[in-house]
Amino acid sequence: MRAVPPTMTAAVTVGHGGPDAVEVRRDWPTPAPGPGEVLVEVAAAALNNTDVWSREGAYGTADDPGAVAGWRGVPLDFPLIQGGDIAGTVVAAGTGADPDLVGRRVIVDPAAGYEDGLPSRVVGSELDGGFAGYHVSAAERAHDVTGSPLSAAELACLPIAYGTALGMIERGGCRAGERVLVTGASGGVGLAAVQLLSARGCEVVALTTAMKAPVVREAGAVEIADREGDGVAAIAEVDAVLDVVGGEGFGTVLDRLATGGRLVTAGAIAGPVAAVDLRRVYLRRRTIAGSTMHTPEVFASLAGLAREGAVRPVVAATYPLTDIHRAQEAFAAKGFVGKIVLLPDDAAAA
Ligand SMILES: NC(=O)c1ccc[n+]([C@@H]2O[C@H](COP(=O)([O-])OP(=O)(O)OC[C@H]3O[C@@H](n4cnc5c(N)ncnc54)[C@H](OP(=O)(O)O)[C@@H]3O)[C@@H](O)[C@H]2O)c1
Repeated sequence: MRAVPPTMTAAVTVGHGGPDAVEVRRDWPTPAPGPGEVLVEVAAAALNNTDVWSREGAYGTADDPGAVAGWRGVPLDFPLIQGGDIAGTVVAAGTGADPDLVGRRVIVDPAAGYEDGLPSRVVGSELDGGFAGYHVSAAERAHDVTGSPLSAAELACLPIAYGTALGMIERGGCRAGERVLVTGASGGVGLAAVQLLSARGCEVVALTTAMKAPVVREAGAVEIADREGDGVAAIAEVDAVLDVVGGEGFGTVLDRLATGGRLVTAGAIAGPVAAVDLRRVYLRRRTIAGSTMHTPEVFASLAGLAREGAVRPVVAATYPLTDIHRAQEAFAAKGFVGKIVLLPDDAAAA
């Protein structure tokens, strides 16, 4: 085991703002694990939309959609290390934390606190995340995946995207043999949903852009509809919809549900305000359910899937941690399928 250095490289967000609000520092103090905590040497950290929107303060509030705020409707505290998707190795344990965790490969559950059954503190927003050399985690949120056949970059794709997708699947009660439509199917959450549903034995229909169709099909979709044409309307009825897109097309997507079908929404990448003909909901006894992230139980079962290698995340590209600005530029351009992952500079160069 390598000695833990007193300082580390970290991408430090110093305030709400544009890309310049993230500063790459090579002298940031390495955190020390407190009671019940472990120190994780970060082997990979994946990017998410929330990193960008939190940095911009783009979440607004219920009263003022234009207000500068993090996802909880209040400004975040800075300086902050963002990055909620962490895979690494435990290198130290604080008092009371299981010392046997030292040396284990882990993925970190980013939901660090719950209120009313919902995540209330999230790694990378309310507490420091993984865009750094080291990360301190509560020991019970560091899930041992030592035997996993997945690489560090693949493991780092799991916590937020796969946690959210598995949470949606559970919320929608999706069962083997059911026909399920996934929107935004080439994205982090969408592709995760395609893989997880397919592993569960569901018949997956994916709504995506034509150029991304081959990877989505390879992930397990048996039917693909082109979201840029009139593909949605041509989809035969489905038992459930998992939607992270929302926006103008929401009503049409909802209308692909069979009578009594369930739609689970967990995102709104095409816009948070959608027009819905309510008659299409009540006359067909359809259900619309919201879902956010995952529960501790869902995360534990995700860690089990990681250990078995039951799903294999698609890593679109990796970048050195110190190249975070270029990585986030590529992420914003959306010309990729799967996840973009940051690696420590020495691992990225290897
Ligand atoms: N509730 C939660 O806990 C939670 C957790 C994670 C993410 N989210 C939300 O879920 C959404 C997706 O996240 P993600 O990480 O999967 O994002 P992502 O990796 O950026 O993928 C989003 C996908 O949506 C599709 N898309 C993008 N812009 C679109 C538009 N204008 N109209 C229609 N489709 C569009 C694209 O897929 P195609 O080209 O295949 O159509 C894109 O690949 C975001 O709104 C995010 O904030 C919520």
